[in-house]
Amino acid sequence: MTPRTNEKLTEMLLRTAVVVTALFFLSSPVLIKGTKVLPEIFDVCATCHPNATCDEKTDGSGGFTCNCMYGFVGNGRTYCEDKDECQTSSYNICGRHTACHNTYGSFYCTCLSGYSPSNNMAIFIPNDGTYCHDIDECKVQGICGEGGRCRNKPGFFECECQIGYQVQNGSVPFHPRRDQAFCKAVECGPPPSAEHAVQISPTRNRYGSMINYRCKEGFLWRGGDNMSFCGLQGMWKGPSLICEAKCGAVPEVPYSEIVWQNDSMALHRCMNGYYNPGGNNRSVCGHNGQWNTTMHCKELDYGINDIHVFNEKCLRWKAGTNSGKKEDYKMVFIGVRDYQKIFRDERRRYFSSSAARPEVCLDLLPATNYTVNITTMSALTSTITTINTSIPAPPVPEVTYRDVESPLPTLWLRRSTCSLDPICLYEVFVMPVEGTLVFDCNSPRTPHFFNQGSCHGEYIAAQIQLKDVGKEMNFTIGDQQYYGQFYNAPLENGKDYSIVLRTVCQWGQISKRSCVIWAKARGLYPEESCAYWTHCPAAGSVCPGSSSQPPNAISRLHHVCNEFCVQSPSTVLSLT
Ligand SMILES: *[C@@H]1O[C@H](CO)[C@@H](O)[C@H](O)[C@H]1NC(C)=O
Ligand SMILES: *[C@@H]1O[C@H](CO)[C@@H](O)[C@H](O)[C@H]1NC(C)=O
Ligand SMILES: *[C@@H]1O[C@H](CO)[C@@H](O)[C@H](O)[C@H]1NC(C)=O
Ligand SMILES: *[C@@H]1O[C@H](CO)[C@@H](O)[C@H](O)[C@H]1NC(C)=O
Ligand SMILES: *[C@@H]1O[C@H](CO)[C@@H](O)[C@H](O)[C@H]1NC(C)=O
Ligand SMILES: *[C@@H]1O[C@H](CO)[C@@H](O)[C@H](O)[C@H]1NC(C)=O
Ligand SMILES: *[C@@H]1O[C@H](CO)[C@@H](O)[C@H](O)[C@H]1NC(C)=O
Ligand SMILES: *[C@@H]1O[C@H](CO)[C@@H](O)[C@H](O)[C@H]1NC(C)=O
Ligand SMILES: *[C@@H]1O[C@H](CO)[C@@H](O)[C@H](O)[C@H]1NC(C)=O
Ligand SMILES: *[C@@H]1O[C@H](CO)[C@@H](O)[C@H](O)[C@H]1NC(C)=O
Repeated sequence: MTPRTNEKLTEMLLRTAVVVTALFFLSSPVLIKGTKVLPEIFDVCATCHPNATCDEKTDGSGGFTCNCMYGFVGNGRTYCEDKDECQTSSYNICGRHTACHNTYGSFYCTCLSGYSPSNNMAIFIPNDGTYCHDIDECKVQGICGEGGRCRNKPGFFECECQIGYQVQNGSVPFHPRRDQAFCKAVECGPPPSAEHAVQISPTRNRYGSMINYRCKEGFLWRGGDNMSFCGLQGMWKGPSLICEAKCGAVPEVPYSEIVWQNDSMALHRCMNGYYNPGGNNRSVCGHNGQWNTTMHCKELDYGINDIHVFNEKCLRWKAGTNSGKKEDYKMVFIGVRDYQKIFRDERRRYFSSSAARPEVCLDLLPATNYTVNITTMSALTSTITTINTSIPAPPVPEVTYRDVESPLPTLWLRRSTCSLDPICLYEVFVMPVEGTLVFDCNSPRTPHFFNQGSCHGEYIAAQIQLKDVGKEMNFTIGDQQYYGQFYNAPLENGKDYSIVLRTVCQWGQISKRSCVIWAKARGLYPEESCAYWTHCPAAGSVCPGSSSQPPNAISRLHHVCNEFCVQSPSTVLSLT
């Protein structure tokens, strides 16, 4: 209570007392009449209650009476009790949003907390026009603390936190004093770092702060956000920028061109006629500052490489880069024979394969020079190769084995003609039979009668070209004619011989032979008509009793020579 208020209250109370006392005097004539008997001996004032006053009667009788003081009710003598004005009415006599305060002998009104009296005094009494209105606490600056937001309510206020602030030690809404809660700025902590990047704005870490970054020297910005933002949750968002190292010039890939490029990527394309066998056609600038290039270009090759002949009739090759896909091949093969001008074997064959090493076998004729032209249908590239087929073992003619005793035995054969005839011939071997004789059909030896190389040795009596032989042939042993280079000598009288027919085919360096025993013959030629039967060793050998001159074939016939025979070690054909 201010001193001024006190003064006013006292003045107010006194004024009220005067009015009450006046009323009292006007309304007590009966009492004055009753005590009129002993006015001198009875001191009325002495009987007054301590909280009563003794007042002169107002009736002019000069008597006194006891009156309870203002705020008290009673008879003024035996009791004067405090009157609780706050309780006297069923309604709040002070009005809305007020508190009524009873005092000893009086009362006063105050506004409830959060309300303010319209008279701007701390207390008031009812009906003086004063009322209580709500106080807007939010008018007080900073009532909710830093980052707080005040909300006024009837009789009170509450606090929330502004965006970027979070309540601490409580929850919203809060009362700053009662709850000990407060608002605190959201902080994100130290800004994050980004790989190969540097921060370019000053460090701040409150909500809403933005930090900028840029790539370090030697690094390039490839994308992403250059900024970091401190979010509501106290977490940094970003930066997401990607810096990789500068790689310099894009490396050259041989036989390619660069279709597109920037500082971190390049797209290559193989030049026409080249292809990429599987590398990535992108060069990427790596973290290490080096281009990662995996592409290379290979020459397109639909051809046929490493062609290889096997089994004489089969071809195998390495397919071109079309491998994986099926390739269609056209094969044209032409066979010619230098020994047979009219011969020409021209055929074609179509063939498909997806193999990396296709194989194909052709039905080729023997002893022929073939030219094979293989063409890929996808690219129309051709490869030529040659195949020289070999000569087969010649067929033996049909003969009738005979045991003949005749001066001039005639032997017969039948055969089927064949295209290889130009390179084949018959050889008639004559072999004296002395015990077991071994004849090697494959031996290349071609002994002449005059140059047998051994005494009583074998010799060739005739060499006959097959092309000159019809389907049938009769041959007479010992007709003393030359057949080819060979002399058909008469068989020695009384001696036994085996006659072997050998077929020989020769093409280039290769020859093939087959043999058949044609006959067994006993010589019956008259002795006097022939001086030939004393055989001599090979030319160059010296026979006893002869001149030192090397004998020629004819002269040798007249010498008697020591005999020595050498047998061939090979055993192909046994004649008994
Ligand atoms: C008289 O009133 C006063 C307060 O004004 C009080 O303290 C006192 O007790 C009262 N005396 C009696 C006898 O009731
Ligand atoms: C949080 O509130 C408790 C009581 O509720 C108080 O003791 C403490 O000091 C408060 N903390 C802060 C940081 O104000
Ligand atoms: C990010 O920074 C780089 C320099 O480091 C700049 O080249 C690029 O344009 C920036 N990007 C954005 C989206 O601002
Ligand atoms: C290069 O281009 C690629 C693909 O468009 C892109 O992702 C990359 O960020 C670019 N790099 C630079 C340094 O511009
Ligand atoms: C690069 O390769 C991809 C797939 O490997 C292909 O689709 C693209 O066409 C190629 N680009 C060039 C330019 O060759
Ligand atoms: C280069 O790129 C290829 C794919 O294109 C990848 O497999 C390889 O790991 C990369 N090498 C390096 C060193 O990055
Ligand atoms: C091989 O065959 C192809 C296609 O039939 C042809 O174009 C080419 O001239 C031939 N090559 C030779 C040398 O005959
Ligand atoms: C076929 O003979 C000819 C001529 O001698 C030779 O050039 C060629 O290489 C031979 N071919 C084969 C496959 O032997
Ligand atoms: C071979 O001799 C037989 C019998 O003397 C005869 O019939 C045949 O015609 C002869 N063949 C030839 C080709 O001379
Ligand atoms: C045919 O092939 C044979 C055997 O390889 C060879 O000796 C000959 O010279 C070839 N002839 C031609 C015309 O290629």
